[in-house]
Amino acid sequence: MRYLFKTLVAAVGFAGGLAGQAPPAAEKPVGRPEAYRKSAGYYREPHRPQYHFTPEVNWMNDPNGLVYADGEYHLFYQHNPHGNEWGHMSWGHAVSKDLVAWDHLPIALHDEYGVMAFSGSAVADADNTSGLGTRDKPPLVAVYTGHGHGKQTQDLASSVDRGRTWTKFPGNPVLDVGQAEFRDPKVAWHAATKQWVMVVSLAVQKKLQFYGSKDLKAWTHLSDFGPAGVADKPNWECPDLFELPVVGEPGVTRWVLKADMGSGAVAGGSGGEYFLGTFDGKAFTPDAKTSQWVDYGRDFYAPISWSNVPPKDGRRIWIGWMNNWETALNPTAPWRSAMSVPRELTLRRIGGTLRLCQVPVRELEALRGKPEVIENFALSAARPLDTRGRQVEVVLEFDPGTAAEVGVRVLKGGDEQTIVGYDAEAKTVSVDRTKSGNVGFHKAFAGRHAGPLAPEADGRVRLRVLVDRCSVEVFGNRGETVVTDLVFPAAASDRLELFARGGEARVTACRVYPLKSIWPTNEGK
Ligand code: FRU
Repeated sequence: MRYLFKTLVAAVGFAGGLAGQAPPAAEKPVGRPEAYRKSAGYYREPHRPQYHFTPEVNWMNDPNGLVYADGEYHLFYQHNPHGNEWGHMSWGHAVSKDLVAWDHLPIALHDEYGVMAFSGSAVADADNTSGLGTRDKPPLVAVYTGHGHGKQTQDLASSVDRGRTWTKFPGNPVLDVGQAEFRDPKVAWHAATKQWVMVVSLAVQKKLQFYGSKDLKAWTHLSDFGPAGVADKPNWECPDLFELPVVGEPGVTRWVLKADMGSGAVAGGSGGEYFLGTFDGKAFTPDAKTSQWVDYGRDFYAPISWSNVPPKDGRRIWIGWMNNWETALNPTAPWRSAMSVPRELTLRRIGGTLRLCQVPVRELEALRGKPEVIENFALSAARPLDTRGRQVEVVLEFDPGTAAEVGVRVLKGGDEQTIVGYDAEAKTVSVDRTKSGNVGFHKAFAGRHAGPLAPEADGRVRLRVLVDRCSVEVFGNRGETVVTDLVFPAAASDRLELFARGGEARVTACRVYPLKSIWPTNEGK
């Protein structure tokens, strides 16, 4: 716990210690704040994302328990029902039929008797291997970390009513190795060896462990992986493991093993890395010693992928916490933190290297309004766009030509702007939030964050930029490089402009879509 404790103290100024906290006796978990729901300001506060998931009120961190079942994508999340800072970790809950609009549900797992429900995953136990449901009513089973009883253990909870109510397994913990830093189990069915496989993190040792089980209750140690990847980084948490086909290479697949570090990531603070390799139901063998970064911005952490997405859909989709432990106390209330948009994952060979590519799920296109379209023009200075807005998508395709930098400035007004730029010489895409608005709430917040991006085979660079009031997500080309950054501009900073400097670029296509809100409004009622 030492590392996590330190991080959290630094991040959120939590002074009371983390272990053994029970909710104050007089206080009922808030969960569904009826008065707030009826208020005029519901989901319309300054900086409130309009098409990203946020809790109605209070603190959120990692996504948990992502599972698709009975036509619903479940999203659970690390949640403090009692306040807008980290604490009392419980699993908040929401569901979506389309990965776009979310319905809030009551809190699924509460911290009880001081044992908090830390991060974990959920599976649809269709054959009732756990015996926690029946043949007719197979259970959803959540596998999560119990924290606060002097160590971290892996615990179960189950539901037989489509995730509406959850029962903690009386035989908890199901996995206890007496370690204080042992957390964030991701469980999946491994068809070839007919067993459940868990990857879980021995966090401060920077080690992942694999366990196997026939019934989700009795777990056998299979192997360890790590320390590996970026050297000298303090910890690993929130692992994920899944197999993906390589696009364009029939019959070829790789396993992706992802883990996150609480500090020391590419853009500073927390972030994730991934390895590609093979997994035989026992051990993960990486293709190379080196890892790759998941996201080059500062605000994409602890992503996990949905389990049980139907084979006829076949996508691997994940979502991440759009925040950074170092600067987590964002200037927002009465909630804190958003999830990223759900992202579809593919593996593609880009310039000879296999890369994990992320693009927004196609369902989000339903939010698009009528676009501003401009095509085939030379760009060597700033060109203001007609569209104004703080929830917009910019789809940009250009040949950098002789320009040193090409891109789009968003959330612009007064002295404020957030710059999405492509540096043609360095071959990088970046987000510069130095002058993005309120940057003063933490000294590490202002800055520019860049990731490598080569033009595609036709010499063009393609950028897709999703802006949602307090966030900018930039997807380069096929999604091989992503930069996710939070920003806190003034409400009046709603202008956009294309720009090129140091030469002339050719913009082959630019579409700017206003995006609808997914949240109901009480305004004008
Ligand atoms: C990652 C993390 C997890 C832990 C959870 C606690 O952000 O530190 O390792 O389970 O947050 O809220």
